[in-house]
Amino acid sequence: MSFQPTSHFDPGLNLFKTETMAAHLTPREPVLPDPGKRNILITSALPYVNNVPHLGNIIGSVLSADTFARYSRARGFNSLYIGSTDEYGTTIEARALVENCTPQELCDKYYAIHAAVYKWFNISFDIFGRTTTPLQTEITQDIFLKLKDNGFLEERMTTQLYCEQHHSFLADRFVEGECPDCGYVDARGDLCGKLLQSLELIRPRCKVDGSVPVTKETKHIFLELDKLQPEVEAFFQESAVKGAWSSNGTSITAAWLKEGLQPRSITRDLKWGTPVPTSLEGYEEKVIYSWFDACIGYVSITANYTDQWEKWWRSPDDVQLYQFMGKDNVVYHSIIFSATKIGTHEPWTKFHHLSTTDYLT
Ligand code: 2FM
Repeated sequence: MSFQPTSHFDPGLNLFKTETMAAHLTPREPVLPDPGKRNILITSALPYVNNVPHLGNIIGSVLSADTFARYSRARGFNSLYIGSTDEYGTTIEARALVENCTPQELCDKYYAIHAAVYKWFNISFDIFGRTTTPLQTEITQDIFLKLKDNGFLEERMTTQLYCEQHHSFLADRFVEGECPDCGYVDARGDLCGKLLQSLELIRPRCKVDGSVPVTKETKHIFLELDKLQPEVEAFFQESAVKGAWSSNGTSITAAWLKEGLQPRSITRDLKWGTPVPTSLEGYEEKVIYSWFDACIGYVSITANYTDQWEKWWRSPDDVQLYQFMGKDNVVYHSIIFSATKIGTHEPWTKFHHLSTTDYLT
């Protein structure tokens, strides 16, 4: 089943009266893989639910994935195309602050707008879901604990900027200051030409209230990507050739592997996110990093579509996974999501083809 186009889209429409798109899109009989046939699982990157989608969202991953999904169905391949909004993390918290509402209210408002825009574009999602669901928590926590049991998680102390004015650790995007590289005075903690850590900024200030943050110690869980590097590398070498990954997907991934993978923190001092499993003491006020569980969203959305989701996601021999995204999303999929799946020691469906798009200029 696909979206029906409407004749006119007015962003001022009261979209919130409409039922959720997921309900519109869920066919009665879910599409399931058929072991004897070619089974194609298609995803487009999940856009943050903090704005009205722009042309870059459509061009960056949705249009290419939709075109491929239509082609795949037309060829008679057993195909499932899933999409969703990406609803956790600091991008959402930051926008909720600007709009003076709760993150949940923000997600509800913009989910409806996103769904309506994709409906207007007649995007043929089989399901357009959300990442703030109980199944997202369940599946993410399960993966997290498997990584822990398999020895790929480690607790470390970190030093971070803390705002004493509004009593909160500051995520990189909540910090502004002078870029140590180019001298730009309003550089943001997470981006200024290159990826910056907020601690590197000169004369940092809190973006929420302008006060000068202090440094404070806080413990976090790190995913030991260095230990997983050999397996991620072997997977990449094989998959990029077999699945004919697009050239920028291949080069970005190869550059990261050449540099050597480093352990990365996968928890945050935030409220809006997937809770850290309660079996970990001292993490009651922390959540799982949204980029760790965003890709798990693909899995939980499928689980919301069918209780037989494992037939899609735990069938490496029967299912080919095609993922479409903008180039800024590549490493989170090709390295972090792949390492996450490999580290569970379970038979996950991994990339067949990775399609990346450059920025729309
Ligand atoms: O860049 C973005 O808009 C991210 N929300 C993409 C996430 S894709 C996947 F990981 F969910």
